[in-house]
Amino acid sequence: MAVHTHDDIDWAERLRSLRMAEALDAEPTRAAAHRLLEGLPDRPTILDVGCGAGGMSVLFAEELASAGARIVLVDATEPLLVEAHRVVTAAAGDKAVVETVHADVADGGLPEKLPPADLVWASRVVHHLPDQQAALHTLARLARPGGLVAISEGGLDFNCLPWDLGIGRPGIEGRLLAARGEWFAEMRAGIPGVVPMPYGWNTALRQAGLDDVDSFGVLIHHPAPGSELLREFVVERVRWFADVAGDRLTQDDRETAAAVLDPANPAFLGARQDLFLLGVKTVHCGRRS
Ligand SMILES: C[S@@+](CC[C@H](N)C(=O)[O-])C[C@H]1O[C@@H](n2cnc3c(N)ncnc32)[C@H](O)[C@@H]1O
Repeated sequence: MAVHTHDDIDWAERLRSLRMAEALDAEPTRAAAHRLLEGLPDRPTILDVGCGAGGMSVLFAEELASAGARIVLVDATEPLLVEAHRVVTAAAGDKAVVETVHADVADGGLPEKLPPADLVWASRVVHHLPDQQAALHTLARLARPGGLVAISEGGLDFNCLPWDLGIGRPGIEGRLLAARGEWFAEMRAGIPGVVPMPYGWNTALRQAGLDDVDSFGVLIHHPAPGSELLREFVVERVRWFADVAGDRLTQDDRETAAAVLDPANPAFLGARQDLFLLGVKTVHCGRRS
């Protein structure tokens, strides 16, 4: 069976942006990686499902207390798997064996293709699948009895921009986020075979048969003026939002977005010293009995 994503997004093209986000999120996310590894048996098997560029598994590898782990990277986008394998292998040294599996997470036969895991991690992938509840059932079956399933989904949207940019109508970030929300709803509605999941992630994990369901937040905060990387990330993020927003934005906002994304324009975001990054990622966990 050909392996593919269901969301019509070219994930390989988003490598640069995934890498920038990983670099900015690394330090606060390291504490989450450490927390998820606590209590795992010696020589754990860790599955990173929808691993993207591999940033979380780099942190898992760095935070492993001892050698002998097995880290299995799973994704439907082959170029990302290659990249993830490169960076996670480098981070793991001789502490872990790193493998890749090119697979569709919506494939209910996944448990037959992967080793039983002590930790199943899936960050920002389930919401790209047609049947999110079915996918959580699959993730639950990937864990061995007593194993932990942790997903990063939801949280608080990131804010990066001052309210008044000195060009166009103030508050464009709120309108970009609203337009992105509409795009997201249309993206989900357009996934063939989409199944609604009209309840929250804690309920979904319980329905997947997991116990001890709980959530915690990871605060990502880079105050202004931030680094050059932060400015590049914000430019890339606003460019992506403006692209997906398209004509959901007014003509005035489209012109403002074009101006602030143009390096030759005095309003270029990349030249500002007042950009920041503030948001929260939520990690939802449950244990297989
Ligand atoms: C938003 S990125 C998240 C990457 C990474 N987990 C992170 O949090 O940075 C979504 C990832 O899920 C992968 N993906 C999307 N649909 C998939 C599917 N049906 N099966 C496997 N991977 C999929 C994409 O290739 C991409 O790497």
